[in-house]
Amino acid sequence: MNVGTRETVMSGREFWIGTSWKMTKSAEEAERFAAALAAGWPAHHGPLRLFVVPPYTHLNRVAGALRGSPVLVGAQDTSPWPDGAHTGDVSAAMIAETGAALVEIGHAERRRDHHETDDVVAAKVGAALARGLRVLLCVGETQVVRDEGRALEHVTGQVRAAFARVRPDERDRVLVAYEPVWAIGEGSRAATLPEVEPVHAAVRAVLKDLGQADPVILYGGSVNPGNVDELSRSAEVDGLFVGRAAWDPDGFLGLCAAAARALGTRAERRWSTDAPYGTPSAGPRRTPAAPRVPAPGAGRRRLAVQRVLDPSGRMLSLAVDHGPDAWPVTPVPDAAALAGPKADIVAALRGLPSSVLVDVEHGAPACLSRDLVTPSGLIVGLERQTAPTAPVPAAELVADGRDAATVAAAGADAIKLMWVEDLDDAGSADRFALLERVIADFHAVGLAVMAEVLVTPRDREESAESLRRRQLDVVAEVARRAPDFLKLAFPAGVDAVAGHAAARAACDDLDAAAGSLPWTILSGGQDFGAVVRQVAVACASGASGFVVGRSLWADLLDAGSALIPGAADVLSARWHELASVTRALAAPTER
Ligand code: 13P
Repeated sequence: MNVGTRETVMSGREFWIGTSWKMTKSAEEAERFAAALAAGWPAHHGPLRLFVVPPYTHLNRVAGALRGSPVLVGAQDTSPWPDGAHTGDVSAAMIAETGAALVEIGHAERRRDHHETDDVVAAKVGAALARGLRVLLCVGETQVVRDEGRALEHVTGQVRAAFARVRPDERDRVLVAYEPVWAIGEGSRAATLPEVEPVHAAVRAVLKDLGQADPVILYGGSVNPGNVDELSRSAEVDGLFVGRAAWDPDGFLGLCAAAARALGTRAERRWSTDAPYGTPSAGPRRTPAAPRVPAPGAGRRRLAVQRVLDPSGRMLSLAVDHGPDAWPVTPVPDAAALAGPKADIVAALRGLPSSVLVDVEHGAPACLSRDLVTPSGLIVGLERQTAPTAPVPAAELVADGRDAATVAAAGADAIKLMWVEDLDDAGSADRFALLERVIADFHAVGLAVMAEVLVTPRDREESAESLRRRQLDVVAEVARRAPDFLKLAFPAGVDAVAGHAAARAACDDLDAAAGSLPWTILSGGQDFGAVVRQVAVACASGASGFVVGRSLWADLLDAGSALIPGAADVLSARWHELASVTRALAAPTER
């Protein structure tokens, strides 16, 4: 069987495909498989890297049959000890002697059947690397962990733990297989791409952080002829680790052929993970700022903007945003409500490394307090929240302007104005003029302004293109009023990367908006995986920051009354996870 030629394989990156036979196959069956593989493997294999992982007892024969072929042979486990009195164990040296070059470590079935902890896995990884073998490190979360929204945290934790004994010169010999426990074996379902990609992105970020030059991350769990194409096309997936569907040679080679075809049309990753931690992203070039006459309070405002842009050397600043329903008590009645239980959340915010923009809901300027403003760049904003389907009532905008002094006096550095507009709305010119006045009022007291632009579909029939065009028109109008930040929310169905680029270009053409207007992107939904995907989109589109909304707060709130004592931990765990993904994705260059 032909598994692909150089003509069909254009991606240029290696793609790994392997199969573990687990505890199946007689010695004779193993040998027959290896012979079929040796014969079926063409000379032109492009970027495919194949491997088979037989049981220990078949290693010698399989490695012998595949000697001289490009197919690697691996063992399913290794002893953590180099040698000695360890009955039943097989050392890495013994494995290497058979001709095997790879060791699988930490598979879910070993963690389950043999209670292998992260420490044991780390010891085995160290032992295998010390003998010059490659390691295929298996990681993955259970269904329970995923349901709790902790998949990324769990998997990245497993990866970090497994690297505990890896020396710098050894780390590039570790490949990672992401195999969600719930996707492996009979009766399971394969993970979908939206479930796989955020995990791979997060693992890649961690591997980069651990010093790997070019991480290799395979997906495993119910890979089959029906999903091989989609998985292989994903720029996040560097290979596949297959069980049942590859337990006969035709099945295996069929998957290889399908992967080779898919690779020919695969997109490369849009972002690089090469930028060192802490290097500000260059982002797309902007036209230089036209000199502006400094407004009263401008110095303070500039400081606020700078804090959001680059408060601690990070490339992207993160903002926490929450609606009126996010705090346990809604609406916040007064400053006293921030005392007591909320103090824990406030403490967590204060401990975070990046700048944070906290929106305090409509009508609650009294609960703003200088206590919230931290040296790490916490910026407190007052959100004017309205129903997303209706324009902001003019009276409310005027009231916002009047509140400016109160908000500033309470210690806020910035305010977010939610500006929902439809250009066809009669009187929209007046409304933009009003917005201009309100922004000027905030600027006069030194507050930075974030204007949110969200244009909702007119009706079900409206096309994504029409929606995007209307949104760009509104962006241009709002940007002319010179807010300090624009927050763009892209409705479902709109290509956010293209939308961002176009909006940015529209702004670059405007004198009033030229200069340091950063871009943020709204992350919606309750699902933390969706947030990570949004972060990737934000990075790919040159956004300067993004707003993490309900999903982050939902983690706190989901825990109900028990959430409050643990809020600091939950928040900072999530935050660090996001920061690590952001760091790795933030340079929008080709890989
Ligand atoms: P399945 O492909 O049979 O789900 O097994 C995957 C696996 O565990 C590979 O190690």
